Amino acid sequence: MQVAVDGPAGSGKSTVCKKVAISNDLMYLDTGAMYRSVAYLSLKFDRDKLLDIIEKVEFIFSDNGSKLSLKIDSMIEDVTDIIRSNEVTSIVSDVSSDELIRKILTNKQQVIALSNDIIMEGRDITTVVLPNADVKIFLTASVEERAKRRYEEVNGLTDKSYDEILADIIKRDDLDSNRGVAPLIKSDDSYALDTTTLTLDEVICEIGKLIVEKRG
Ligand code: DC
Repeated sequence: MQVAVDGPAGSGKSTVCKKVAISNDLMYLDTGAMYRSVAYLSLKFDRDKLLDIIEKVEFIFSDNGSKLSLKIDSMIEDVTDIIRSNEVTSIVSDVSSDELIRKILTNKQQVIALSNDIIMEGRDITTVVLPNADVKIFLTASVEERAKRRYEEVNGLTDKSYDEILADIIKRDDLDSNRGVAPLIKSDDSYALDTTTLTLDEVICEIGKLIVEKRG
């Protein structure tokens, strides 16, 4: 079973997919965390070295996909927190528009999906990574609602105001949707789920129904 979920920043993909994974016995894969890891590594290495490292890095997800460590040669580094830092967030859209980086990560994601029943979320899962997934969902919400959720989520962890978070999201939407390679778009065969006025449980229930229908 392959469930592919795409959607813009702050649409609630991670929260929703983690819960759906548990209730439907699926592996959860957060591809945004993989792009964030590459953005983090790009702060340390030049492009040639970076490409070499991404080819061989092992992404080790644990705790139902909430934690991530990178294994490079015999070194293991827990990057769970650092990949959510403002510094990494500010460069990740740029890094993820690199065609070669996308090719390497797409391949790794497809290999993981080959041997697991999975729910995978990101920006190009329904269109590029798993175009033949059993269930394809485009999750969204109004930009104001997404900024509000993000503001509540990071409350106390950053000194950013609601307006600054809203501006960040608008900028990331623009970069993710208008880049040349694998832009964020809703494919015709994806199920559009607007969560602006739905509770978390309602969204989980809706996706659960689609999975059950497919499983027959
Ligand atoms: O889901 P997120 O906000 O953690 O993702 C971080 C960035 O990674 C996002 O700005 C776009 C990029 N990304 C991507 O280009 N393709 C994916 N499949 C997942 C994320």
